[in-house]
Amino acid sequence: MATATGGSAGRGSWGSSFGFILAAAGGAIGLGNIWGFPYTAAQSGGAAFVLLYLICVVLIGLPVMFAELSIGRATHKSPVTAFKALAPRSAWWLVGAQGVITGFAILAFYSVVAGWAVGYLYKAIAGEFSAGLTPVETQQIFHDLVANRQIVTLWTFLFFLAGILVVQGGVHGGIERACKILMPLFFVLLIGLAVRSMTLEGADKGISFLFNFELQRIVDNPKVILNALSQAFFSMSLGMGAMLTYGSYLSRKENLPWAGVSIGMADTAIAILAGLMIFPAFFAMGGTIDTLSTYREEALVFVVLPTIFDQLPAGQLFGIAFYALLVIAALTSSISLLEVITAFFVDELGWKRRSAVWVFGGAAFLLALPCALGLKITEDMSFMSLLILIFFQYSLLVGGFFICLFVGWAWKPQSAIAEMTAEGKTFPGLPFWSILIRFVCPLVIAIIILNQLYTAWKG
Ligand code: TRP
Repeated sequence: MATATGGSAGRGSWGSSFGFILAAAGGAIGLGNIWGFPYTAAQSGGAAFVLLYLICVVLIGLPVMFAELSIGRATHKSPVTAFKALAPRSAWWLVGAQGVITGFAILAFYSVVAGWAVGYLYKAIAGEFSAGLTPVETQQIFHDLVANRQIVTLWTFLFFLAGILVVQGGVHGGIERACKILMPLFFVLLIGLAVRSMTLEGADKGISFLFNFELQRIVDNPKVILNALSQAFFSMSLGMGAMLTYGSYLSRKENLPWAGVSIGMADTAIAILAGLMIFPAFFAMGGTIDTLSTYREEALVFVVLPTIFDQLPAGQLFGIAFYALLVIAALTSSISLLEVITAFFVDELGWKRRSAVWVFGGAAFLLALPCALGLKITEDMSFMSLLILIFFQYSLLVGGFFICLFVGWAWKPQSAIAEMTAEGKTFPGLPFWSILIRFVCPLVIAIIILNQLYTAWKG
């Protein structure tokens, strides 16, 4: 049974601070790190993007993370109920509600991509990638998989089932326990693959692609800034109350800011390590910058990498390792999304955890169906890309914007700082954090959103 380290009676709590960090890092580290970060870096000019990304993490991501963790632990409630508790008789709870809706939508498209990964793991185990494939053939394999709607639905369903079974077990007995097994396994696989990739001949081109800053590329393409910020929010699981919910199961004994910094640093380090796993191998196998920026979203992970594995000695083994890693990362993240939804129905509407997980996990699966089935909204926009556009690019940023306003101006930074420094805890620079959360973060987020809307509207 969970020891009572935090939370109201019966709500559950983390077993240990290490368990919490692993679970929260597991929620943050996911497809966003392994799939999204390298892809966005490839699209946005490599090192210039990496630099901007790091600035976004430090100046905006971490301050918002502190804010979410503080609201969660101060109330021991999930988003909607938490806003109601801190600001009764106001409309702030809508920020929490937006988070729950965003959770549903992200879980839907996320699980379909995870379903592709499960399918690829199966293919890797079956030895489909070790038969001397040409790039055209690997492209075909991907198209065939996506086009095979029953199979994609099946894989997505199995993925959902795994997440539901974990979340049903509760915070301590389900989520924390699963992450304690899955995350170490994930780290071992990732480090093994990154070392293999970086020791290939010609790997240095990939490394300099990630770290050789050319500021001109940012100036050339201002969308890089939006990409970097949305990617930071998505990767750190911010803007929809996931960190808030995880913080709500924490005891006041924890040093919140340090926990936040550890989670943020782990997430960022893993994204960079994922880049170091993918790009050196890509360049070592003859890839070039010009081909890189022409790939579509899914191509790097599902089309390019199988060709690369195919050329390595023991390639099948590396292929299995890679797709297993992808599935693990996606599972621990989807768990955190499902937990936000579940906690809402438990805290706000008094549902039993078990019923909430099955009913609303099931509802999210229904929303995933049109994605898995490739439903189209218009000639060149699928239902899935519409969800990604609204909920990945905008909704998290809008949520983050209001979280900043709430903590900066309604709840007040002093209250959050009192929560962060409870029981004599200290953290350097908290007055500076107040300035960031009141002025810098909301302003930067608003400018980036408005600029993007303006460009989209004009173009
Ligand atoms: N951060 C995860 C990833 O990088 C995805 C994720 C899980 C997420 N929970 C979230 C994103 C909450 C936004 C909000 O893959």
